[in-house]
Amino acid sequence: MFAAMMVATTAACGDSGSDGGGSGSGKIVLGFSQVGAESGWRTANTKSVQESAAEAGFDLKFADAQQKQENQIKAIRNFIAQRVDVIAFSPVVESGWDTVLKEAKDAEIPVILTDRAVDSADDTLYETFIGSDFVLEGKLSGEWLVEEFADEPGPVRIVELQGTTGSAPANDRKQGFGEVIAADPKFEIIASQTGEFTRAKGKEVMEAFLQAHQDIDVLFAHNDDMGLGAIEAIEAAGLVPGEDITIITIDAVRDGMQALADGKINFIAECSPLLGPQLMDLVEKVHAGETVPKRVVTDETTFTQEQAQEALPTREY
Ligand code: AHR
Repeated sequence: MFAAMMVATTAACGDSGSDGGGSGSGKIVLGFSQVGAESGWRTANTKSVQESAAEAGFDLKFADAQQKQENQIKAIRNFIAQRVDVIAFSPVVESGWDTVLKEAKDAEIPVILTDRAVDSADDTLYETFIGSDFVLEGKLSGEWLVEEFADEPGPVRIVELQGTTGSAPANDRKQGFGEVIAADPKFEIIASQTGEFTRAKGKEVMEAFLQAHQDIDVLFAHNDDMGLGAIEAIEAAGLVPGEDITIITIDAVRDGMQALADGKINFIAECSPLLGPQLMDLVEKVHAGETVPKRVVTDETTFTQEQAQEALPTREY
């Protein structure tokens, strides 16, 4: 993985073989700054971007930010220095992008946000944003819970594993879920902490939750990986995931879907990582100077245990 990262970083830091900046082969040069490799979702997203760029015949400059905003800012500045044709990136966190986005705009390099949003007040700093509706994913998770516990008198004690602090999916999923469960005071979030979207941190934080609270009814994890880590902690504590504790996660990657089909997770709201083909289409259009919609929302669904069993054999990721 380290070797792969070095290759990616070298590419981002200055590949003299770039066809960008009018060097002339006719290939579109796309600089892409990825968040990192924190989850199964991210791995599937990277594959989708890399394969789609190759299929489209683009020269892809790929940089892995290892979950650090400063690395993404550096990568974007390198892309500007290389005079790539288009920059796309998935922002680690929502805030703090205006300066570097202004630099790209001044250099007349169009920027596409993919997967995650920025909270910039100036939406002329990017051409378009393609990705999921994270608030909706949180709401769908909350609605399933409300329905599932409709006959329970309560209290229903919930622990929440949040994604990366300050990231759009963590902020929005928390908001959507919170809005729905707020309608009934029997639902109570008794603990909420970041598990950084990783399996290891999800396990560690769930261990702490279990030690601090003997009476957890529900786990809401902002992604499958943290939920899967938490399942290990729940089993190690002698409890049965999916029975003693109801588990809701987001993503629907293969491992999550398997746990859902096996009865260890109870419900998953899908977040599709397969953004590559639509992204390349937008890159082509933006490069050609065509008008594109400011927001492109991806199509998604939800899965119960029965639906996961049906979907698993043909699941792409
Ligand atoms: O931005 C999308 C989120 O990032 C996914 O839900 C999570 O798994 C990933 O790390």
